Amino acid sequence: MQAFTVGRIPKLIFGEQSMYALPEELKKLGYRSAVVVTGGSSLERNGIWDAFSSALQKTDISYSRFSVAHEPSPADVDSAAELRRSSRTDCIVGIGGGSVIDTAKAASAMVHAEGSVKEYLEGVGTKTHSGTRIPLIAVPTTSGTGSEATKNAVISEVGPNGFKKSLRHDNFVPDIAVLDPSVIQHCPASVTAASGLDAITQLLESFVSVKANQFTDSLAGDALRLCGKYFETVVVDGNNLEARGAMAYGAYISGITLANVGLGIVHGAAGVLGSRISVPHGTACGTLLAEASRMIIEKAEAEGLHDVLSKYADAGYAIAGTVRENDTEKGIDMLLSVLYRWQELLDAQSSAKLSAYGLKKDDIADIAAKSGLKNTPVQLSTEEIASVLEKRL
Ligand SMILES: [Fe+2]
Repeated sequence: MQAFTVGRIPKLIFGEQSMYALPEELKKLGYRSAVVVTGGSSLERNGIWDAFSSALQKTDISYSRFSVAHEPSPADVDSAAELRRSSRTDCIVGIGGGSVIDTAKAASAMVHAEGSVKEYLEGVGTKTHSGTRIPLIAVPTTSGTGSEATKNAVISEVGPNGFKKSLRHDNFVPDIAVLDPSVIQHCPASVTAASGLDAITQLLESFVSVKANQFTDSLAGDALRLCGKYFETVVVDGNNLEARGAMAYGAYISGITLANVGLGIVHGAAGVLGSRISVPHGTACGTLLAEASRMIIEKAEAEGLHDVLSKYADAGYAIAGTVRENDTEKGIDMLLSVLYRWQELLDAQSSAKLSAYGLKKDDIADIAAKSGLKNTPVQLSTEEIASVLEKRL
């Protein structure tokens, strides 16, 4: 077996109603106060906030609340960190989608850091973060980014000098992740479809990553099998808690595998797209996944990269939920047919064509040139990346 290192992994609390047991867990850890970061009004609408805040009150844990209803900007993170400084609470709890958890994560890191978070962002700032942060608990209400298990927070600023960049450190992986299917069941179908495809893209890209190892292969392979079994069910029937739990677990695992072995071209392109047009991250990933996978597979076939093809076949058998046969082509065919079916499913939920979000044909060459391959297992030219984007224009 090749050498590898496994990074920090959050303690996982999984199960229906587990969110309401979190205050007891915080109390056991000796925390008496928290800043709770949340999104818009969906927690109120679904009665989750009332139930959670009364569970907090029962354990005598005091809290201040910070809301962020969009992808966090540096100003949002700085304000959340300032709220913690002034309230001197023991920990930060993020309850929401990836943007909320990223806000909580970045705020927990900025409490003891000098200046604005912008000064520490990759490719934007010049300062290096020490990695010191205060305790952080992540409670995702969508199943997608895996931010509850990753070491980075994505911060963006829109406008002519806009950016979408990460604050990253090995120490930023949350201490605890709480996956409660009964909370996630309220996520709407269109968000469920897009964020589910984000998680699936993360699993597939880390599974075939040039850095993949025994540990990430076991985790991502098993999670792909679960997502293959439950993804379509969860989009059609959001109240199916078995399916919700499987997708929540898949997203959490995708966070672990991506934090350990990285991602590929779909995320390379989705990152650039996200800073240019207002497309949800999951939609950007989901719309590109099938075409990008086909391009990589064709390239691997042309170059005789049998190990790469075998890995894609492994993924195909896992997603299809069938026993691995010694037939690479069959595995790859199963994988591509499922990915194209899921692309159609995404299209049916909301237009997944990039032109619907304002992408122009003339912008494609530049976006393709700026899209990093990350850990994609084949080399792709700018023209090849552009042809993938053009197919989903
Ligand atoms: Fe992603």
